[in-house]
Amino acid sequence: MANLFQRKPLERLMKEADEVGEHTLKRSLGWMNLVALGIGGIIGAGLFVRTAAAIADRAGPSVVLAFVVAGIGCAFAGLCYAEFSSMIPVAGSAYTYSYATMGEFVAWIIGWDLILEYAVAASTVSDAWSEYANRVLSWFNMAIPYQWTHSPFEHDPGGVHGIMNIPALFILFLLTLLLIRGTKESAFVNGLIVILKVGIVLLFIGIGWHFINPANHTPFIPPATTHVTAQGITHNYGGILGILGAAGVVFFAYIGFDAVSTAAQEARNPKRDMPIGILGSLVFCTILYILFSYVLSGVATVEDFRTAGREASVAFAISKYMHGYEWLSRAVTVAILAGFSSVILVMLLGQSRVFFSMSRDGLVPKVFSDVHPRYRTPWKSNMLFLVFTGAFAAFVPADITGEMTSIGTLFAFILVCAGVWIMRVKNPELERGFRVPAAPLVAILGIVTCGAMIYGLGLMNWLRLLFWLVIGLILYFCYGKWHSHLDAPKPPEMPEGIKMTKDGLL
Ligand code: ALA
Repeated sequence: MANLFQRKPLERLMKEADEVGEHTLKRSLGWMNLVALGIGGIIGAGLFVRTAAAIADRAGPSVVLAFVVAGIGCAFAGLCYAEFSSMIPVAGSAYTYSYATMGEFVAWIIGWDLILEYAVAASTVSDAWSEYANRVLSWFNMAIPYQWTHSPFEHDPGGVHGIMNIPALFILFLLTLLLIRGTKESAFVNGLIVILKVGIVLLFIGIGWHFINPANHTPFIPPATTHVTAQGITHNYGGILGILGAAGVVFFAYIGFDAVSTAAQEARNPKRDMPIGILGSLVFCTILYILFSYVLSGVATVEDFRTAGREASVAFAISKYMHGYEWLSRAVTVAILAGFSSVILVMLLGQSRVFFSMSRDGLVPKVFSDVHPRYRTPWKSNMLFLVFTGAFAAFVPADITGEMTSIGTLFAFILVCAGVWIMRVKNPELERGFRVPAAPLVAILGIVTCGAMIYGLGLMNWLRLLFWLVIGLILYFCYGKWHSHLDAPKPPEMPEGIKMTKDGLL
């Protein structure tokens, strides 16, 4: 039985990274693909939906500072991811790094935890995709009835119950097929989506800038008080606490840059390009987010976001205040739809790569690492996760909160920061394509900031995370621990002069 804290030897990891052949993933991604992959996974519901919620309930215009705070927190983790991925260019991201540094048990926990980030986020975002797709269809009087866009656990005010969410299933199915077809093809489609969504966000920033009403930005940091939401929940509003609370809310908007590291085994030049992909996408999105939130909070009032503009905040702000730009309001809806699609794509990609690595290590069944002979993608894993995420998306209400995804991600970030620190102490000699500046300070700051954000997410979310980890532990002790390849017996030494051949001993 494997020692719980047995670490995966680095030589073995490096050997796996260098393997080529029909059972391995194909190295097809350049640095631009990786940056686009990051942006594709980052810009989505967090920006388009949560910014308005953060303005309304927590921070008013100082949401801009909340994006700065959350961005700094992510930068610490991003730097650590960059060092790791340039050192251990193997698929699997935080899971693989933990295996090399903190041993099998921690690695399993983090691999299991990443399902919260990637698979659960993919199903949740596909529900949001369904809602926006129906909005677009309604422009053409082709809206899908309520029953087929909601789960059986939801009903409208008229008492009509949902049956299953078909558009959510549709988008998951479509993107899974794309992922199976090839990583390069997926990266190409992702690139097109990124150009579209970034283009429209830039248009909104450029045009909206002229509609900023300085009164909406005064005072920029509202005085500290509390705000009770329509659901009766009380939040700190304004002041420093308002900004910190808003940072926790918009943290979701940054999730996704780490997914770049799951594709390390498909990067052509991982040592150089992984840090560019991770940090490049993070820096780009941080700047975009700051500008976007500055314009959005300047165009409409806090009261707008608290009432009518809460749902479709950007489209609402344009329609109400930016006269003559109705087309932009529609374009934003299309950009949001596109944005959701690439987030789902990147999350599904990340999920299958984490399980690919876990399966290669024996911790989950081999089916998760079977590579398609022609497309060289882990197609069975893609199909299995289609079933899992599809079941969630079609039959479970979309109130699987973003907080679940956030807490899972923050937990992974902490372990990655800790791992970089441990590696610097244990293996200082290893070649690193990128080195975290001022280590271990940055790693420690990453742990503290992410820990603080986990603290801010509250008891309910800690319990949810705990519950999820307990399920994972049961599975580990029933399966993973007994099948781990680290335990595989070494082939017996042959006496000198005797060789093992396919026909037996010679
Ligand atoms: N960052 C991604 C989003 O905002 C998860 O949708």
